[in-house]
Amino acid sequence: MKKKYRIGWLPGDGVGIEVLEAAKIVLEKLNFDAEYVNGDIGWEFWCNEGDALPQRTLDLLSNVDAAMFGAITSKPVKLAEKELTPSLQGKGLIYRSPIVRMRQQFDLYICHRPCKSYPGNSLNFKENIDLVVFRENTEDLYAGVEFSPVPDELKATLSRLSKPFKVFETLGNNDFAVSCKVNTRKGSERIVRAAFEFARKHGRKKVTVVHKANVVRAADGLFLDVAREVGAAYPDIQFDEANVDAIMMWLLKNPFNYDVLVAPNLYGDIVSDLCAQLVGGLGFGCSGNIGDKLGVFEPTHGSAPKYAGQYKVNPIATILSAKQMLDWLGETDLGRKVEGATAAVIKEGKVKTYDMGGANTTLEMGQAIADKI
Ligand code: IPM
Ligand code: MG
Repeated sequence: MKKKYRIGWLPGDGVGIEVLEAAKIVLEKLNFDAEYVNGDIGWEFWCNEGDALPQRTLDLLSNVDAAMFGAITSKPVKLAEKELTPSLQGKGLIYRSPIVRMRQQFDLYICHRPCKSYPGNSLNFKENIDLVVFRENTEDLYAGVEFSPVPDELKATLSRLSKPFKVFETLGNNDFAVSCKVNTRKGSERIVRAAFEFARKHGRKKVTVVHKANVVRAADGLFLDVAREVGAAYPDIQFDEANVDAIMMWLLKNPFNYDVLVAPNLYGDIVSDLCAQLVGGLGFGCSGNIGDKLGVFEPTHGSAPKYAGQYKVNPIATILSAKQMLDWLGETDLGRKVEGATAAVIKEGKVKTYDMGGANTTLEMGQAIADKI
């Protein structure tokens, strides 16, 4: 019989494989009517095929309701080149993060990162933290508009446009590098709107817009202007704004002053790591990359190559990402069950992975959560 949902299953490499295995134990315990379709993604595909996210995986993602992704190893461009199979070396292949490509290719413009301190987790910075980060996921400094060496054409344009500063004329093309921060009105508007819609739907009180518009006047200035316009349409929700540097300090000083946060891509990346640490660190940071047609759910952490194969990392971040997937698919009862079971295991404190001060394995944690369902 045909299943209701088709779920792309992309373990990647390193501990990505292990945490997804644990999430599967939990999903299989639910009456979740889904078939799981495996997709190739990860370091080995870069080394052997010159593409960590092969076309067949993109095709697969075009044909699923949602996907779970584990993690992948990334290396700086020059090191990545050296690890290519010899026949692919010297061909000018450039390594780019597959997750960033996936976000752009499928226009997964929302990065939704809830950070909640579950009672009894000894890693909580404080109890009762319940923050939600909305990170723009396709543009900003991740737009991929970068130059090193800087082409003559661009150098000439920059020299002409910034005449009074006379900075570029004296530099050789290899003496500087350019990474463009590109924020669009459309991109800014849809992420801020997503944050406000979420706040309204979930009875949240306040949305804080994170920026650095006093310095990055063009790109962040646009983001902030658009955010103010969007915020004005939600008089029921408090509009708040903060500089990215200051908010890192204030979040540590008093996380209870914040509720929903919305930020351009790079600040959102940074703020969401801080928020994850407030609620227990990498083992608890879950995330959803969401567009109008597809959602790809993944733990915020990376592939942790030094732990690969040891089945010791905490799968809770991935299991909570699976909960987000269920919610996004409209299976909110199932999502609630997964969160409830996870919270119960944390509170009971009997099964703990190494980060929580215990010695249980990744799969034992998955099984313990599944047993509470
Ligand atoms: C994240 C990660 C990624 C990012 C990396 C792996 C490219 O840090 O999802 O937060 O920078 O977006
Ligand atoms: Mg990050």
